[in-house]
Amino acid sequence: MRPKVFLAKRVPSEVEAYIAQYCDYRKWDREEEIPRQQLLEELSDVDGLLISGGSIDEELLNHAPKLKIVSNVSVGYNNLDTAAMKARGVMGTHTPGVLDETVADTVFGLILGAARRIPELDAYVKAGQWKKGSDDHIFGIDVHHAKLGIIGMGRIGEAIARRAKFGFNMEVMYYNRSRKEEAEQKLGVVYRSLQELLQESDFVVLMTPLTPETNRLIGREELALMKQTAIFINTSRGQTVDEEALIEALEKGQIRGAGLDVFEQEPVDPDNKLLKMPNVVTLPHIGSATHQTRFDMAMLAANNLVKGVQGEVPPNLVAE
Ligand code: DGY
Repeated sequence: MRPKVFLAKRVPSEVEAYIAQYCDYRKWDREEEIPRQQLLEELSDVDGLLISGGSIDEELLNHAPKLKIVSNVSVGYNNLDTAAMKARGVMGTHTPGVLDETVADTVFGLILGAARRIPELDAYVKAGQWKKGSDDHIFGIDVHHAKLGIIGMGRIGEAIARRAKFGFNMEVMYYNRSRKEEAEQKLGVVYRSLQELLQESDFVVLMTPLTPETNRLIGREELALMKQTAIFINTSRGQTVDEEALIEALEKGQIRGAGLDVFEQEPVDPDNKLLKMPNVVTLPHIGSATHQTRFDMAMLAANNLVKGVQGEVPPNLVAE
């Protein structure tokens, strides 16, 4: 009997064709997220589930008695209740490795956008406000040779550090729960405590996965340590920052600006104060969203899914 899977996320046709070689499948074929109730109703007979972001918890597992694997089409897997999955022998996988360079590009887009005020000045030119030469009211700050602090030195952190060091001649420091000696030697990055990093950096990039330890890692106290001239970038998950505290720090001029790809609530509420601030550059959680990288992520996730339903241990199992 061929395994049955449910695709709760749209994937490219080539990826779907690959899955079809090995599995019978049903799919959610819309851009918006599948309604929770509908997802639960799809799970009674499936061996595998491909998903991006929906919460995999006790309730969902109760609806999926045959489930062997949840293949997450993302590198972050804070949506998986790994303990509940383990208790039922359900494997979880994610898509590490294939998105590092793309996310690092996005981080630099936000750094440059915020430092050189690119979205703000784009709007200024298009609104016909450019009447004379460039005066200091439209000046920005330098990225090259500035101090960059990376919180979370995993694969993506390293890709950011490489760009910073070799592309922009930046001084790069990092904070991580464990020292990364190989990265220190290879890239010349230096370890700092979180407090030191926040105090010294011109740009702080938050790139840590969301875990119980990193939930609201950056709050009022941490933001107060940053330089008044510093820019804060978040490309991890919205919950790693106390968003109210960030709004307050920006309103008070405690920091210069921010670049945000992620928010506490997504899609972000259009009334969120952050969206009204000219010194905040925003993106709709597109860190990894290029055609090629999203294809690679979907293919990797499909591969994990097929291996899992065939009874093999897939290569990209998530940590517990
Ligand atoms: C990831 O892969 O974790 C990206 O943030 C998309 O969710």
